[in-house]
Amino acid sequence: MWTCEQVIGASLDVAEAAALYRASTLAERRPVEDIGRFTSMLAGANLVVTARDGEGRLIGIARSLTDGAYSTYLSDLAVDVAWQGKGVGRDLVRATREAAPRAKVILLSAPAAVDYYPHIGFERHDSAWTMTATAG
Ligand SMILES: CC(C)(COP(=O)(O)OP(=O)(O)OC[C@H]1O[C@@H](n2cnc3c(N)ncnc32)[C@H](O)[C@@H]1OP(=O)(O)O)[C@@H](O)C(=O)NCCC(=O)NCCS
Repeated sequence: MWTCEQVIGASLDVAEAAALYRASTLAERRPVEDIGRFTSMLAGANLVVTARDGEGRLIGIARSLTDGAYSTYLSDLAVDVAWQGKGVGRDLVRATREAAPRAKVILLSAPAAVDYYPHIGFERHDSAWTMTATAG
């Protein structure tokens, strides 16, 4: 089994979190090797939920930014490959929604997860737009 818990992003062990991003494959699409930037990503997120196994090992994370009242941007959802398909991701999303129940959850899916999100209750939005960062 596992337990999900809301935590302060800045309190996370950066190396432990980076290991999870690698173990989930999400590190292929996040700047995990840029320690300064990755540390800022963890510290700047104001709604972070972790999942840990019975021995306290980090096996999943949902990293979001929320105003707590209207919108929650779920930036990263990652589950260790060894734990995928057991309900950890669904549990992390549930805990994220419960932490800010009035906020709509918004995300951009990774290609491999396009079929996952409708499976757990997300609806596709045809008028979502993004703009690239001004600095690399
Ligand atoms: C996508 C991810 C977070 C899903 O987490 P998970 O813990 O494996 O998913 P769950 O066990 O909660 O899955 C819930 C249901 O979705 C299904 N499912 C899981 N991954 C799926 C996928 N990629 N496509 C379609 N369905 C999927 C499960 O079979 C399960 O079905 P069930 O309810 O019929 O039993 C995880 O696979 C992951 O970390 N992937 C790599 C990183 C990534 O791409 N993250 C998304 C970034 S946007």
